[in-house]
Amino acid sequence: MKLVWIMEDLRIIEAKESHKEILQRLLELYQYDLSVVTDDDVDQFGLYGYSYLDCYWVEEKRYPYLFLFREAFAGFALVNKVNWLPENDGAHSIAEFFVLKKYRRQGVGTVAAQCVINRFPGKWEIRILRENQSAIQFWRQVITKLASGRFLERIPDPHLWRGTVFSFKNRSVKSSFPKEFAE
Ligand SMILES: CC(C)(COP(=O)(O)OP(=O)(O)OC[C@H]1O[C@@H](n2cnc3c(N)ncnc32)[C@H](O)[C@@H]1OP(=O)(O)O)[C@@H](O)C(=O)NCCC(=O)NCCS
Repeated sequence: MKLVWIMEDLRIIEAKESHKEILQRLLELYQYDLSVVTDDDVDQFGLYGYSYLDCYWVEEKRYPYLFLFREAFAGFALVNKVNWLPENDGAHSIAEFFVLKKYRRQGVGTVAAQCVINRFPGKWEIRILRENQSAIQFWRQVITKLASGRFLERIPDPHLWRGTVFSFKNRSVKSSFPKEFAE
């Protein structure tokens, strides 16, 4: 099904602690989806689990976001400042990023990624596992637009990261997307 949508259909909110359980469930879907890439198994309770979830409301410099499409949950992004490449020290990073299947290939991920990244001017590092080729293609096109083609795409030593690392500087001050981050 192809959705015909306008920007106002998509809303991105900061996930509050009261959204934690929703995010936890969406993370399960995300990890299930990525298990063909990560080779992860569920635990004895049938869950993947996500050890860092609580940190998003406890530690500074961690930012959880939810995407809502016409008020239905459509995905999420977790942003932090954990970097792998020494030259990206202090950069923001996408820890996890997910669009539910129904909403894919219709630009939802691109708009959400642009909005989230535009919250934070300055250096960015985005890492994608080698096996996740579709995500590599997704991020390459997002970053090409955002950084006007000025970015570095590297495959570092596999001991450092087993995949692709994008590094770029976001020069935007704030996205003009009308309803983003509204409560
Ligand atoms: C990667 C993901 C976020 C993309 O979300 P999306 O809403 O489908 O992305 P968009 O519709 O904005 O895609 C924009 C462009 O990215 C590229 N792209 C997106 N998904 C792709 C895929 N599966 N294969 C190849 N290219 C893809 C295409 O160039 C696409 O443009 P097109 O549809 O006109 O060809 C989504 O597929 C997802 O959540 N995947 C599982 C989780 C994941 O891998 N997250 C990233 C971890 S770093």
